[in-house]
Amino acid sequence: MTDVSAPSPVPGRTPAARPEVGSPAPLVLSAVGLRKHFPVRGMRTSAVVHAVDDVDLDLHRGEVVALVGESGSGKSTIARVLAHLMPATGGEIRLHGEPVVARRRRDFRRYVHRVQMIFQDPFASLNPIHPVRYTLSRSLRLHRGRMPRDEHERALHELLARVQLTPPELYVDKYPHELSGGQRQRVAIARALAADPEVLLADEPISMLDVSIRLGILNLLRDLRDRLDIAILYITHDIASARYFADRTVVLYAGRVVESGDSESVTQDPKHPYTQLLIGSAPDPDDLQARARGARGEAPSLVTPPPGCRFHPRCPFAVELCRTAVPPLTEVASGRRAACWGYPGDDADVPDGLARPTLGSMLDTYGARPGREEGADR
Ligand SMILES: Nc1ncnc2c1ncn2[C@@H]1O[C@H](COP(=O)(O)OP(=O)(O)O)[C@@H](O)[C@H]1O
Ligand code: SF4
Ligand SMILES: [Mg+2]
Repeated sequence: MTDVSAPSPVPGRTPAARPEVGSPAPLVLSAVGLRKHFPVRGMRTSAVVHAVDDVDLDLHRGEVVALVGESGSGKSTIARVLAHLMPATGGEIRLHGEPVVARRRRDFRRYVHRVQMIFQDPFASLNPIHPVRYTLSRSLRLHRGRMPRDEHERALHELLARVQLTPPELYVDKYPHELSGGQRQRVAIARALAADPEVLLADEPISMLDVSIRLGILNLLRDLRDRLDIAILYITHDIASARYFADRTVVLYAGRVVESGDSESVTQDPKHPYTQLLIGSAPDPDDLQARARGARGEAPSLVTPPPGCRFHPRCPFAVELCRTAVPPLTEVASGRRAACWGYPGDDADVPDGLARPTLGSMLDTYGARPGREEGADR
């Protein structure tokens, strides 16, 4: 695939100047106390799956935030709720600080214009019966209205160039089955860009692609962040790719945020025992699940999640306090937050008569993943 050295910007969008180092970029999208519970199917009970509980998330302009967690931890649910593909059970979503209430069709349109989603499976997300031209034209018309024919054609070509599918004439009339997985994902990204969004929610955008082309897609997303100042939520189960790609990393465990901070320090010096286990097992999360299961039982049921810290059944340092009270997400170092009772904090949060746990080395307990330094597929 040919690289375009300087693709023209998406029409209608003037890239904003990147904020100076150290000055916080404006907040675009945030979730406050986000909660999503699903009724348990086929059962006449009030039981629910606690997929997401009390999640706070901030996305700033021109920033990539990685949302990392193992399968079933609630990553896709957060993205779908943020994209308004389903309603939240509780909490609030704010766009530029304003609560979003997209009850009317027009409000919904305005919102999806700003917040676009890229799905994991580029094979399922493009309609096989339509060529690229149809897919992109539909999105352009939906978001930018009807244009004169030559302007429309120019916009189509600019979208393809923006995702580095060049020369555009080579791709514009192709059907999905004529494209590789990576090319399809680029078309899906171009379709999202047709809306001229401020936020991209990318749900495991590379996990179904061939290893050899994953980096190309991440580099493309990074280019979009840099050139268009888009905020990107990058969802992944692979914390190694978060380190490579994301400015900040948020770690999710069983529907709750357990750690957050800048990606470099979260991956170099993980504070939460779960993140330590995740880093120790990267890049193979299945290995983590297998070892943790072998040593310490199953990942928790989200129908009846463990009380207190949801990680306590798998944590070697758990004490009564961990089994009793939910640890608050508190500052554990500059710009770093973790939800673990093992760090000093406000003792008013600790119920009477209970003591904080003493943390040790997770990898001493579980053992480092053998040979993880070698041949790592990053
Ligand atoms: N539509 C749904 N109905 C019922 N349960 C669901 C639904 N979608 C997701 N879940 C449950 O919510 C939890 C989180 O799922 P998901 O957000 O897909 O996790 P992840 O993307 O991290 O793998 C899982 O237990 C899953 O089974
Ligand atoms: S020490 Fe307690 S609070 Fe911290 S991760 Fe382990 S179980 Fe959770
Ligand atoms: Mg998912």
